[in-house]
Amino acid sequence: MNTSPYPHLQQQSARPVTLGDLRAMKNSGDRIACLTAYDASFAALEDRAGVDVVLVGDSLGMVVQGGASTTGVTLDDMVYHSRITAAGLSRAFLMTDLPFLTYATPQAALSAAHRLMAEGQAKMVKIEGGAEIVETVDFLTTYGVPVCAHLGLRPQMVHKLGGFKVQGRDAADAETILADAKRMEAAGADIVLLECVPSSLGARVAAALSIPVIGIGAGPDTDGQILVIYDILGLSPGKKPRFVQNFMADADSLDTATADYVAAVKSRAYPRDEHGFK
Ligand code: KIV
Repeated sequence: MNTSPYPHLQQQSARPVTLGDLRAMKNSGDRIACLTAYDASFAALEDRAGVDVVLVGDSLGMVVQGGASTTGVTLDDMVYHSRITAAGLSRAFLMTDLPFLTYATPQAALSAAHRLMAEGQAKMVKIEGGAEIVETVDFLTTYGVPVCAHLGLRPQMVHKLGGFKVQGRDAADAETILADAKRMEAAGADIVLLECVPSSLGARVAAALSIPVIGIGAGPDTDGQILVIYDILGLSPGKKPRFVQNFMADADSLDTATADYVAAVKSRAYPRDEHGFK
């Protein structure tokens, strides 16, 4: 029975994407197309376009709430946006961010993940961190919580980093990110998300792991790509990061632009070399 309050927004026929499907896509070399969404209408747009994974990102603190960073986003905010995004989906796999400082201990992470999955209907949680979260990833996955580990640029660290900066340019930093990615896989993570690293490092991490590696500003050789929906629709004001492409520029509707993004990821037309970092 369809329990969505927005049945008119959902595709009725498509089989939901599973983690097994995403792993099979990695193995067959089929690119995984991902986008952020924060509500039912954009979720339904993305579902219709064939997006495989929808992320309710804590980027909502910036693009929806108008903040300068993601650190002001609360768990209640994420639960609310996850629930209303889930209401627009029938096929895409729903991943939701654990917000800043809600996973400082494994037990806190488990409680927060429980809220995102039970109330927010997320199928996976995304967590930012390196070596310090390996124990937490292990704990969550032991209890059956699918985890995406977010490495490279971790936006929740913006105040510590002094800005949104490319990571892993230095050889030692690159080795740390690669080693952390392997640790995440060993701890049970099902996906690694890699943000703003040199394209060469994106390729190395994807080649070294058997779980899918999704990139944003990580070059063309990761197993999938993710962007913020408002960025691909040209809605975000100001200077764009190098990896953003406005798919609305040549499209006559939101549906066409979103489907063009999916097609470009699948055909490897996006991202191109110029979208990557050295
Ligand atoms: O919060 C978010 O939207 C993200 C993506 C930019 C990957 O983490």
